[in-house]
Amino acid sequence: MRTWPATAGKSPGFARETATPVVRVRHQLSRGDMWKVQLFELNYDQRELHAAMEVIQSGWITMGEKTRSFENAFAEFLGEGVLCTAVSSGTAALHMALLAGGVGPGDEVIVPALTFVADINAVRIVGASPVPVDCTSYEDWNISPEGIAAAITPRTRAVMVVHYGGYACDMDAIDAAIRASSGTREVRLIEDAAHAPGASYKGRPCGTIGDIGCFSFFTNKNLSVGEGGMFATRSQELHEKGRYLRSHGMTALTLDRHEGRSVSYDVVQPGLNYRIDEIRAALGLVQLDKLPEANRRRSRLVKRYCDLLEDVPGARVPFRCYYLGEPSYHIFPILLSKSVDRQAVMAGLKDQGIQSSIHYPSFQGFTAYREAGLPDTPIASDISSRELTLPLFPTMTFEQVEFVCSTLRSLLV
Ligand SMILES: Cc1ncc(COP(=O)(O)O)c(C=O)c1O
Repeated sequence: MRTWPATAGKSPGFARETATPVVRVRHQLSRGDMWKVQLFELNYDQRELHAAMEVIQSGWITMGEKTRSFENAFAEFLGEGVLCTAVSSGTAALHMALLAGGVGPGDEVIVPALTFVADINAVRIVGASPVPVDCTSYEDWNISPEGIAAAITPRTRAVMVVHYGGYACDMDAIDAAIRASSGTREVRLIEDAAHAPGASYKGRPCGTIGDIGCFSFFTNKNLSVGEGGMFATRSQELHEKGRYLRSHGMTALTLDRHEGRSVSYDVVQPGLNYRIDEIRAALGLVQLDKLPEANRRRSRLVKRYCDLLEDVPGARVPFRCYYLGEPSYHIFPILLSKSVDRQAVMAGLKDQGIQSSIHYPSFQGFTAYREAGLPDTPIASDISSRELTLPLFPTMTFEQVEFVCSTLRSLLV
């Protein structure tokens, strides 16, 4: 049974149906109460605790055998022929993907207009020009294949797509759009699969369809280790580049020297330090084991949300007729009607102890990009101004979903 702090006397006292987590972070509201329903909670228990402890007790905490095991297990999870490099964040994986793909100054990279700023930032950091492309529709918020075809120019060096919320983009249509518009030039397809561990497109795992897949294991992701990511590819050449980019272009690592496999090293290309560590790799192994069941739990919670919101005026659920694959249900986004005051709804939810969020504010509004002359993307801009993300995490209870929906209903009618 979940216990609530005394200050949260109005709490509905939701029953917890899953194993009691050993680690609970209760975030305080400014007035002193706790959130009754956080946007996200960690799906951690004794297993993560022991995994981290075991690494600390081993005396080896920097990249080593656990990292190798995590890479192998994740590669196996993604399917035959996939090669994985564990890194320090999803952003690191995106940066490496652009560098490995040879993207640099003078190049253009197509990015979705509705995504986290990491995508456009990574493109700018390598000196290339981001070209945002609008969403497909108000039902399918993923990048439009037709929009990609129209945006490709002789300068396009890569197309970056995001499986928003864990719903796969139409990868066949995107692939066809790139082939039809790029002629004989090579245009890399990079999948930002930050939302999509465990999601698939027509039976193929998201993150394995393009040239490179980039996963994030940030704390609020389906597979969370705090900070971490994965660079996945089927190409031996890109894999090798990724491995050198991760660790200073060095031919041998600290563990190799420690275990006597080498006394020195060569540097064969410039590289960075985007290494993960053993503690997070160990957490990743446990989280990967939990991922399929956690995603199934998310799917049941989303179904409950959809049923309860069916007749709520002013709230529309995207991806309702989704048919392209199995989603990972990373977040639960809704679209509020134009007449609804989103800030007031968020404040009303907060008053009842429910945390909500926005995925995502539009690039055009950020100081760094306001003057960048980015093209108009009307659907994404409109969605950005009306989107509301409701709580979703595998240890959430159905009672919590019902509480969120009844509170939302009371604010919208
Ligand atoms: C769509 C998307 N891309 C990239 C990232 C960046 O991942 P990380 O925070 O691990 O660097 C995130 C994470 O927030 C994300 O949601």
